[in-house]
Amino acid sequence: DSGVPAVQSLVENGTAHVPQRFVRPIHDRPSKFSSPDLDDIPVINASQLSDKIELQKLDKACREWGFFQLTDHGIPPALMQSARGVIREFFRLPQEEKESYTASSTKLRREGYGRYFLPSKDTVLDWGDVFFHALPPVALPWPVHPAEYKETIQAYGAQVRSLALKLLAALSRALGQPPELFGDAFGPDAHSSLRMNYYPPCPEPDLVLGLSPHSDGVGITILLQDEVEGLQIRKNGEWKPVKSMPDAFVVNIGDILEVMSNGIYKSVEHRATVSSGNARMSAAFFFSPGFEAVLKPLVPDEKPLFRELTFREFITAYMGNALNGKQHLEYAK
Ligand code: SIN
Ligand code: FE2
Repeated sequence: DSGVPAVQSLVENGTAHVPQRFVRPIHDRPSKFSSPDLDDIPVINASQLSDKIELQKLDKACREWGFFQLTDHGIPPALMQSARGVIREFFRLPQEEKESYTASSTKLRREGYGRYFLPSKDTVLDWGDVFFHALPPVALPWPVHPAEYKETIQAYGAQVRSLALKLLAALSRALGQPPELFGDAFGPDAHSSLRMNYYPPCPEPDLVLGLSPHSDGVGITILLQDEVEGLQIRKNGEWKPVKSMPDAFVVNIGDILEVMSNGIYKSVEHRATVSSGNARMSAAFFFSPGFEAVLKPLVPDEKPLFRELTFREFITAYMGNALNGKQHLEYAK
């Protein structure tokens, strides 16, 4: 957004100290309540989900963690590596070129390079740059550089989208429902988008966050990481670092599946920390219902904990707020 420099350009200008606008209040700093001792998040084998035992593991992971590592998902490691490659190259473009993909926003979609969730001058800034677009982009052209960007991200997006649909079917079954339950509820206009994050090395990593705590205002998120760790999830009031597993995706339940599962599956708060030595990249693939799809609890025999609302209403409220924990889910109550 206007007047806020990219973190990458701060770093390129060689700053020894973090500018004040990035400094988190003490209670919100990365060292607070970090708990490396908790168990690691569960690991789910995607090729075993027809198996009852694996499905039960998935069910437990979504109830207790809202997050899991997904292995054996069928997406070739080479394609994951190509996606990482074009995303890194995009962030390596000259600042001016990246900024030509300016964030363009409607209330529903904010696409482009730049910052999001900056409701006021007092919002503490995240130590990370973002490039976000729908798949395919709606309000932006496809980037022309790197030259393989479009082809790679299209191919990657198509494969991750079918993985997302498979996961929705597995989650429906895990709840004892017909496999098409969630897929049907997302509707024919279910859509995908990609949020690419680039976290430059930081001279004072203990003072900042790469990404503020939030839950995802989407259906389900499939995250591609690199080998540098930084993602942390909130568990029992503490922050648990998530390991980087080669070739696995980190999958998490979004707010919409929390609503549709009537709170049985949890959309869990997470954040990203940064380091002084290494840049980190990640790319979150989001899969969400069509804007006119009606969100409501779909599990029969339970008292509904959320009201009925359209995804359009929900996302408009989400976009209007700073990233701030799970506050916005209250809106659906
Ligand atoms: C995200 O919440 O978009 C992912 C954070 C990360 O691991 O970089
Ligand atoms: Fe997220």
